[in-house]
Amino acid sequence: MHCQSLPELISEHDSTRAASAGWTLLMRIAVVGMGHVGLVTAVALSAIGHNVIGLDSDEDRIIGLFNAQLPFYEPGLKEEMARQTFAGRLWFCTSPADAYPAAEVVFICVGTPPDENGAANLIAVERAALSIYEHASDGCVVVEKSTVPCGTHQRLSRALGGYSRIYVASNPEFLREGTALMDTLEPSRIVVGTNSESARLALRGVYQPIIDSMEGEPFAYIETDIATAELAKNASNAMLATKISFMNLMARICEAGGADVTKVAEVMGADPRIGPAFLDAGIGFGGFCFPKDVAALAYTAQSLGCDPDLLNEVLAINQDALLTVFERIKTELWHLQGKQVGVLGLAFKPDTDDTRFSPAVELCRLLIEGGATVVGWDPQAGKSAQTELPDLILAGDPYIAAEGSDLLVIATEWPETADLDIDRLAGVIKGRTIVDGRNMLPDWKVSYAETQGFKVFGVGRLCEWN
Ligand code: UDX
Repeated sequence: MHCQSLPELISEHDSTRAASAGWTLLMRIAVVGMGHVGLVTAVALSAIGHNVIGLDSDEDRIIGLFNAQLPFYEPGLKEEMARQTFAGRLWFCTSPADAYPAAEVVFICVGTPPDENGAANLIAVERAALSIYEHASDGCVVVEKSTVPCGTHQRLSRALGGYSRIYVASNPEFLREGTALMDTLEPSRIVVGTNSESARLALRGVYQPIIDSMEGEPFAYIETDIATAELAKNASNAMLATKISFMNLMARICEAGGADVTKVAEVMGADPRIGPAFLDAGIGFGGFCFPKDVAALAYTAQSLGCDPDLLNEVLAINQDALLTVFERIKTELWHLQGKQVGVLGLAFKPDTDDTRFSPAVELCRLLIEGGATVVGWDPQAGKSAQTELPDLILAGDPYIAAEGSDLLVIATEWPETADLDIDRLAGVIKGRTIVDGRNMLPDWKVSYAETQGFKVFGVGRLCEWN
């Protein structure tokens, strides 16, 4: 596919469209890898006034983007992307020769999937670096945005020919799927790690519009050396995952000791030193970041001669969280063969269609392998889940998923699950058991359901577990 080069684009758009739209184009930026992180980064950087070109080797993906088709669901992204491409600040291409020569800054946003041993696979990062080295101009700043292990910059700068003509920085992303655009445009912090003054200044230039717009808001722009920035990203995700696993361990203790983990979380969260976020026990964390980043950090720790036990335990507790709910379902149904289970939620969390490492999909897999018929509902992720599990039956709403089911499980924190109409459910479901794997149902609804003959099991709660 041919597309215009960045210089052609700039001459066509700079002085005409952008000026008439009232924008001053700030810097010329290339973003390589049009996945979740890369596309959001490209759209956000163009939205703050830069001239951005997004590069991906997948031609179908680029054609899709030109036709305003996103490869994933992310609220608000499609509309903002359309605005930016229309304004001439955002373009896409498949050829490095079209993207890199005019770029002042290149963001590497390619995937770093886990290897079998948990280590991050960096082959796509190396390939991107070699291609940048071939095509980029002197003075270009190359930024690691993909999550990479501490120390990757040394390899990266070697692939870029040493620090002689291309500068390297680490600028990890902290965006959450579902709120990715807002997380990028109104971040709690921006971290720039570099050992190069030129790169430091260039990234100040990239982010100045955000720094200005965040004045007076809780926001930190943190400059560090490059290894520290690399580690800070992994450490942040590992800490959040640790909070969740800690609460899932508390859930097990609550179940054994007759306490309520949601109240324990409320008490803990009221302490500002702990904070209320990420204290929800349930069937565990998933997605393409937490499981992979914790495993990668454990691998890095081990390879640097440090003890990875804490991190490995975080992953083990997460697995146990899922299996505990699965065992509960088995206990209730006696045998899975011949039984039907309705599963509400398939995405790894709400507001995304992403099912990668989704505990909900993993639960469906265990149920199907055990012989159950599984009818799943999800507002966004149905198709993606069915691609992973062809035997999964999809339902158009929660009540169709419940119809004729022996048991209903809440597996993802979609707000709709908290709004379940118990009377309507009672009219369609066959069995009278709800396993609330995300503690979504409010107490009054649990009590009402019990008066209607339901057994309701939460996670780490007083109701019905023991
Ligand atoms: C995460 C980080 O939050 C983000 O900063 C990083 O850059 C990318 O990884 P994301 O993967 O989009 O973002 O998901 P997040 O919202 O963090 O949730 C991760 C998982 O934890 C989900 O499966 C969610 O269901 C689970 N979770 C979250 C809990 O089980 N309990 C909680 O209290 C919070």
